[in-house]
Amino acid sequence: MLIRRILWCLLFIVMVSCRREPVSGGESEALYRKVDSLQKRLDVLESKTTPHLGDLMNTMQLHHNRLWISGVHQDWKLSEYELKETEELLSRIQVSFGDQLVGNSTISNNLNSVLPLTDSIAAAIKARSKDDFVKYYKALTIQCNGCHQKAGYDFYEIIEPKSPAYSSDNE
Ligand code: HEC
Repeated sequence: MLIRRILWCLLFIVMVSCRREPVSGGESEALYRKVDSLQKRLDVLESKTTPHLGDLMNTMQLHHNRLWISGVHQDWKLSEYELKETEELLSRIQVSFGDQLVGNSTISNNLNSVLPLTDSIAAAIKARSKDDFVKYYKALTIQCNGCHQKAGYDFYEIIEPKSPAYSSDNE
């Protein structure tokens, strides 16, 4: 049944594409140039609008800080929010930089060890368990540093924050 539907779709696509008027050599040349110039503009636009990995990481550090401070103060609503922000950032990093190599594996592969930890932190927050929160937060921080080491950024050591990121932060 499904195969028949797929075949009908293919037939439809072939028929539609065959109905196009043949284009002359000059026209196809012009079209080719237009597509090429659009592609170049798209590349420029993409490079201007995609944030650098370092920028996303700096934002992540901020959320990593607030996550810790809120978790140890058991301000669970804030922890929940900061964890959500961290997860959003991780998935943005996955989408934009997943294929980038760190050592001999990809960012994507390394993130596979990080994502289960954010699930465990979420469960700890939900259960209002400070002990579990601390345990999984520390495991997350080890993953931050593990990836930095593989990437040759071992000088960039992430720690459990001692104080809020900004003096104007509540905790
Ligand atoms: C999958 C690998 C990976 C993981 C996991 C990772 N990082 Fe990074 N991080 C990098 C790489 C690669 C860079 C260097 C980015 C650059 O500047 O090109 C970096 C750089 C940084 C920087 C410096 C940014 C700058 O340009 O000043 C900070 C801060 C940072 N990471 C925080 C964190 C925190 C916090 C975590 C954990 C919650 C984390 N990172 C997890 C790969 C990772």
